[in-house]
Amino acid sequence: MEHISEVLKILDGALKSNASLAMSYAGLLADKLHDQGDRAQARMIRERLARAPAAVASAQDAERGVSFSSLPVDGESRLHTVDVSQPRSEDIHLVLPNALERRVEDFLSGVRHYDQLARVGAALPNRMLVYGPPGTGKTQLVRWLAAQLNLPLLTVRCDTLVSSLLGQTSRNLRRVFDYAEHRPCVLFLDEFDALAGARGNERDVGELQRVVIALLQNMDALSASTVLVAATNHERLLDAAVWRRFSFNLPMPLPADDARRALWGRFLGTMVSDPQAIEELVAASLGASGALIEQVSLDGKRDAVLKHAGLIDVPGLFRRLGISMALAKGVALSTEEEEMQWLRQWQPQVFTLRALAHLYDTSTRQITNITKEKADGNSEGSDAASRRKSNRTRRK
Ligand SMILES: Nc1ncnc2c1ncn2[C@@H]1O[C@H](COP(=O)(O)OP(=O)(O)OP(=O)(O)O)[C@@H](O)[C@H]1O
Ligand SMILES: [Mg+2]
Repeated sequence: MEHISEVLKILDGALKSNASLAMSYAGLLADKLHDQGDRAQARMIRERLARAPAAVASAQDAERGVSFSSLPVDGESRLHTVDVSQPRSEDIHLVLPNALERRVEDFLSGVRHYDQLARVGAALPNRMLVYGPPGTGKTQLVRWLAAQLNLPLLTVRCDTLVSSLLGQTSRNLRRVFDYAEHRPCVLFLDEFDALAGARGNERDVGELQRVVIALLQNMDALSASTVLVAATNHERLLDAAVWRRFSFNLPMPLPADDARRALWGRFLGTMVSDPQAIEELVAASLGASGALIEQVSLDGKRDAVLKHAGLIDVPGLFRRLGISMALAKGVALSTEEEEMQWLRQWQPQVFTLRALAHLYDTSTRQITNITKEKADGNSEGSDAASRRKSNRTRRK
């Protein structure tokens, strides 16, 4: 039978006197029927739902403490542990390498055809672990998954979930998984290592082990058709038992050349018209994350708009990129001299003496001195550098 998982959930709802569960899944069933062309059946279900007394569902929910209008909160801080959103495909632009795109499609196809696969015993649990360096689009990917599946996204803040009163954490987890079990959704555990990396942490090890065990138990109890995605920057902290629970693993890499080209193009739009400049940005941003490219582009755009310019100033954009790349590498640039020295050795073809002089509104001789000082290993000392700084003649 097609759509057996929705039918089972509706049955669960009826057997557990949980009108809200039954109604949510009946709504999902109607959507699926509608999408595959069974409009008359979809309408029948929707009409029946429209007649259902909503008051019954909300009274039952309130009794159970999992009302959809009242999201689960941390027992101690009263902060919400879950955010609900409904991402839309047209708002999300995701750049993925081909191989990952195919794996994501496989995952989506598995979710969409879960019942059909389950009938022949070939369904994998709808579980995906996304991992990789910060700013590579993990959260963006999960929003995109929810949009593609047309399901609400329940984002769990794992840091809020791990209560300072550790005893609360397992209870918080239970509430969140209960909540997710009661409605069609994508359950998203973001910053997952806050939870799943708990074992082996230096704090109260016994209590933290209980958190991991509670997590594993909750994951095992969640029906395999519920979509669960977790994301982390610290995959090495994850327990092997946690890894095993995910049927799909997706490593998000730093963007390669093609991906960086697409990201620059996307974020700069028509505000940089020179294709050669884009190619140079692609080359110079090797090792940058998508988030860094976005930030530099937006700063450049903002600057252009505030100056009433139609196009972004390209050398200025390179300067922003250079400074962000330095920061990402842990190099602190606190003076303009340090900036110039860094830019010159970072991209000598872009930051010629003349380009730097123009950018910093000074003479090429000054630039030669400053960058030579760097090449000489800062042998002059900081007094000489600061003297020169105050003497520097500005071309006006
Ligand atoms: N591959 C990508 N495709 C599209 N946009 C991206 C990509 N990588 C990063 N971005 C942009 O960078 C921003 C940050 O991305 P996102 O929050 O998804 O990163 P993350 O991997 O979840 O980072 P963190 O590990 O810090 O949570 C987003 O606004 C997104 O627009
Ligand atoms: Mg993220």
